[in-house]
Amino acid sequence: MKTVNLKVKRFDPATRKSKFQDYQVEVDDSAAVLDAIIEVREYQDETLAVRCSCRSAICGSCAMRVNGHAKLACMTKVSSVSPNGETIVVEPLGNAEPVKDLVADMGPFWAKVKQVQPWLKPSLPAPDREYIAPQEAMQDLVGAVNCIMCGACVSDCTVLEVDKNFIGPAALAKAYRFVGDPRETQTARDERLSQLSKYGGIWDCTHCYECVQVCPKDVAPMERILDIRRAAVAAGFRDNNGTRHSDSFARSVKHTGSLDEFRLLPESLGLDDIAAQLKFVPTALRAIAKGKVPSPLHHKRPGAEHVTRIFDEMEKE
Ligand code: FES
Repeated sequence: MKTVNLKVKRFDPATRKSKFQDYQVEVDDSAAVLDAIIEVREYQDETLAVRCSCRSAICGSCAMRVNGHAKLACMTKVSSVSPNGETIVVEPLGNAEPVKDLVADMGPFWAKVKQVQPWLKPSLPAPDREYIAPQEAMQDLVGAVNCIMCGACVSDCTVLEVDKNFIGPAALAKAYRFVGDPRETQTARDERLSQLSKYGGIWDCTHCYECVQVCPKDVAPMERILDIRRAAVAAGFRDNNGTRHSDSFARSVKHTGSLDEFRLLPESLGLDDIAAQLKFVPTALRAIAKGKVPSPLHHKRPGAEHVTRIFDEMEKE
């Protein structure tokens, strides 16, 4: 047995105030964080609210922040987050409103997941028994299919912290499950890609890797987002800020050996979209005032021709 010190973030729905509360419990050496929380709820404080069900890393309901990062509490051993008896801090999932204590409101999470149409539209005539898909194509989808919708990725998504309009890593990983399926018709895939290329979709991810790091099922949502981006560009969905941003980035690195930040924003917005450019004038003025505007004089770096050659070789491939 070992002693576990828990610091639990409690939220009172009546006052809408949060505070941390300390508990100390005795648990088995092999206990998970969820075991310690349940021990508190069962024997010390029956008012502590926590959501859990399978206790086997399957249902996803026990996702919460442990020491600042989203985890499945039932799959997180006390010994792994508190090897020397350090206090374990537990909080509800991030990017969600608390309902009570460790229970977060998953309504907005499910609303975003529901934006992804959850069925295929195969082009082939319906077979007698089942549609057969190549083994290798389905292996590519295994990661996305493994998602248990626990919300850990959404909790720690840095984009959602500043932009609630982003559909989020869980919904996009789910979208890849259909975009990458060879049984989908091209028309249906194009409809999805068109939708996902808009504001709030695939191009809003900033590659911070948080979702990849916290996903307990190795779904690697950010990798799936990049897969969808590649599919969208290949299918010709290029008239958006994200594709223009990536083209501008690649163009300046290819020709000068480094990023021309001065051109990046206007080219990403579209040089002919004056209304969009004007929206950023206040930001530009603030940047000028703080001395943060990049130099308009962008010179070629020594050895830039080698970078150009690498780009040429890759473009040939
Ligand atoms: Fe089901 Fe943890 S209780 S995943």
